Formats: sequence, structure tokens, C-alpha cells
Amino acid sequence: MATADKEVETTGIVGWIDRRFPMTSTWKKHVSEYYAPKNFNFWYFFGSLALLVLVNQIVTGIFLTMNYKPDATLAFASVEYIMREVPWGWLIRYMHSTGASMFFVVVYLHMFRGLMYGSYRKPRELVWIFGCAIFLCLMAEAFFGYLLPWGQMSFWGAQVIVNLFSAIPFIGPDLSLWIRGDYVVSDVTLNRFFAFHVIAIPLVLIGLVVAHIVALHEVGSNNPDGVEIKGKKDANGIPLDGIPFHPYYSVHDFMGVCVFLFIFAAIIFFAPEMGGYFLEANNFVPANPLQTPPEIAPVWYFTAFYAMLRATTDPFKIVLMVIIALLGVLALLRARGKWRLGLPVLAIAVVVFMALTESKFWGVVVMGTAVVSLFFLPWLDRSPVKSIRYRPTFHKVFYGIFVFAFLVLGYLGTRPPSASATLIAQICALIYFAFFFGMPFWTTRGRFKQPPERVRFKSH
Ligand code: HEM
Repeated sequence: MATADKEVETTGIVGWIDRRFPMTSTWKKHVSEYYAPKNFNFWYFFGSLALLVLVNQIVTGIFLTMNYKPDATLAFASVEYIMREVPWGWLIRYMHSTGASMFFVVVYLHMFRGLMYGSYRKPRELVWIFGCAIFLCLMAEAFFGYLLPWGQMSFWGAQVIVNLFSAIPFIGPDLSLWIRGDYVVSDVTLNRFFAFHVIAIPLVLIGLVVAHIVALHEVGSNNPDGVEIKGKKDANGIPLDGIPFHPYYSVHDFMGVCVFLFIFAAIIFFAPEMGGYFLEANNFVPANPLQTPPEIAPVWYFTAFYAMLRATTDPFKIVLMVIIALLGVLALLRARGKWRLGLPVLAIAVVVFMALTESKFWGVVVMGTAVVSLFFLPWLDRSPVKSIRYRPTFHKVFYGIFVFAFLVLGYLGTRPPSASATLIAQICALIYFAFFFGMPFWTTRGRFKQPPERVRFKSH
């Protein structure tokens, strides 16, 4: 008899299924006997909330697709038809558009929790990497979806972003033509973006979310103290500081869901456009390829990265070249072995390449690197403790400055460019990268507090 069968002895219909499919054993492994640390706080709501929003997006998306027309001549009117004629169509559409923004709110908070408590550190590197891949997919999903209403912002936003690819040396112009399927964003582009938005990306996203949770349950959850609860188990092999996910955290998360739904409903019913942040005014105007709107700005969740792109001007490129050259000199003085020569040679090559290519391309590189650097966090952070609670005060200050710089970038990305705004965005972009790439140096420094042996927990 297989181990799973021995563990699960059920009768009746459940037993019938269990002898053919690992239903009860899966439920036990991932829910009723998944031992999670007992000291989770409200930051741990956001994982389950992200799942809830994912389901919301899929379900409302299915209903929207029933009336939406992926055709450049019909798309805009079909969305208006959903809003005005389809029974409850306005609700479904607002649930989907508000859901998109709330997805990013929840996921940004979820990522910040991981950053604070060092949840990306060994043994959870893969949980984090799957998370970063989810974040990339989410960005792609939101970008493709935004073209579908075929409003002015949809059209010009897609035009600007796809044109960025044309800045890539050699292959750029052909690549952007290939992505659009036409010389400008057109019906062909709308059709392929629709295909990506409704099926290709959601499939990958769901697969990644499953992988994310399976990887998490393999190693177990981290917690605000960063203490590994698997280190201390009772005679039955159950972690002393663990409690079963169900019923304890299912009830806990349900409270988070209730609070979230209040906020979600309030936005849907009272402020679905959120002052132009969730739904931009220009997108209530049908796409017009002959009229560029005075200002083209992406939706708020992209603006921090967009601000970095815009901040990469010619002078900023020179600043980056100087920084890379200085890093090359530093490597020559401090590095050992093959790196001693390899890194300076690489630095020279990059600087020369930068001098030969336009800053628009480096804007794309800066923006891409800002997202991709997240993947390397598990190896950049060298601190001896996981949680922010036991780190030196100056680490907390660095985290604060990093978050502040990211928020400022986010704000600046929503504003029209100006000389002073560009300068501030450049400083914030440097702070962003210094935070990540400086980690191998600053995360080992300072006085760390000794983390406790067991998690700290005060019952309510
Ligand atoms: C669709 C998006 C996502 C969903 C549905 C999701 C779901 C979950 C769930 C249910 C958990 C367990 C509960 C919790 O710890 O809050 C979790 C944990 C985790 N997630 Fe996500 N997640 C998503 C995106 C991300 C992203 C973008 C990242 C990071 C880049 C990330 C990193 C993590 C980490 C590190 C943990 C472990 C936390 C710990 O044990 O302290 N997740 N996720």
C-alpha cells in the first residue's frame, strides 16, 4: 500500500475518491496539516488576498469576454455596450478594472513583506523566484489588457511601449514591427494582445502561482521573526511553533478578506476611476491614430519603472558610465583571481558600448534591470539574520529610503516631465539601484540583534 493510502483511511464517497485520487492527502498536506508559524501578522494576509484577486480577475474576465469584441472597429463600442446595456456589465467591468489595480496594491505589499522579513533567503529562494516571475507576468498581463478598451491611452500607451523595443541596437526596429504585426498599433496588434491577455499569460500565471505555493509548502513559511520553525519539533514531528493552516489561518485570512472586500467594494461603487489613477480620463475617448494625446502616462502601477525610463537622459547615461568605470577600477584594486582582470575588462566594454548607443536604449535597460534585479535578491542580501526586526537601525533607515525613493518615482511617473522632476527621478533611480547592488556590502555591516530560538508570540 502506498504511503499516502496508509495515512489517509477514509470511507464512503471520500474513501472511493481517495483510493483513486489523492484528495484527502492533498487537503491534509496543504491545508489542515500544513503547519504555519503561529506568529503571522497582518502582512501575511496579502498572499491569500492575491489569490482572491486572481480568481476575481479570471471570473470577471470570462464574463467580459462574452460581450467584448477584439476588433479595432468594434472594441471601444463593445466596452461601452458592456457598461450601459449588459445587465450588471458595469459591475463586472469595474470589478475587473479595479481588480487590476488592487492586484498590484496587494502584490506590492506582499513583496514588501518578503523584503522586510527576508522571506527570499535560503531555503525560500525558489518561492521568491517564482514570485518575481509572477510579477513579470502580471505586468505583461496588465499591459496587454490595457490595449483592449481601444481608448486613446490604450492605443498610445501601447504605441510608446512597443516603440521602446525599436531602441534595441540592430534588431530593435524589426522586433517592434514583429510585436505589433504592423507598422503602427492596429487591429492585428489588438487581436494578438487579446489572445495573450485572455489565455496565454493567464495560463502561465496560474502555473506559476501553483509552483509558488508548492515551493512554499515544501520548505514551510517564514515569519516576522525569521526563525525556522522546522528546527524545533515535538515527538510527532510537528513544529512546536506551528499551527495548522486550517482552521487557524483560514479564519485569520477570512478576516483579511472581509476588510479587503469592504475597501474593494467602496472603490467599485464610489470611485472606480480613482481620480484617473485606476481608469484614465483619456481612455474614455476612442483611439485615434491621427491625434496624439498631450500626455501619455501608464497606469500608476508602472509609473515607478516608467519614471526610471524617462530619467535616463544623455547626461544620466554619462553618470551611469562614470559609475560603471569606477566599479571597474574598484574591481581592479579589490577583486581576486580571474575577476581581477575580467571585471575591469567587462566594465570598459560596457562603457564603450554605452558611448556608442543612444540613451533611449539605456532607458529600456535601466527599466528592465530595475525589475530583473529583484530575482537576485536572495544572493545579494548577505545579512546574518533574515528579519528586519533583528537588523541594525541603519538597515531600517535604508529600507525606508528605498521605499520612499520608489514612491517618489511612482509619483513622478504620473506627472509631465520637467527638469527638476527628471533630476529627482535620477537621484531616486540611483538610490533604487544602490539599495540592491550595494546589498552585498551594507547588509553585512552593523550590530545585529540575536534572533530568538523560538518565535515571539503574544496571544490576543
Ligand atoms: C498572483 C500573485 C501571487 C500570489 C497569488 C501569491 C500567493 C502566495 C501565498 C498564498 C503565499 C502564502 C501566504 C503568505 O505568506 O502570504 C505566498 C507566500 C510568499 N510569496 Fe507570494 N504570491 C504572489 C506573488 C508574489 C510575488 C510577486 C512575490 C515576490 C516577488 C512573492 C513572494 C512570496 C514569498 C517570498 C512568500 C513566502 C513568505 C513567507 O513565508 O514569509 N509572491 N504567496
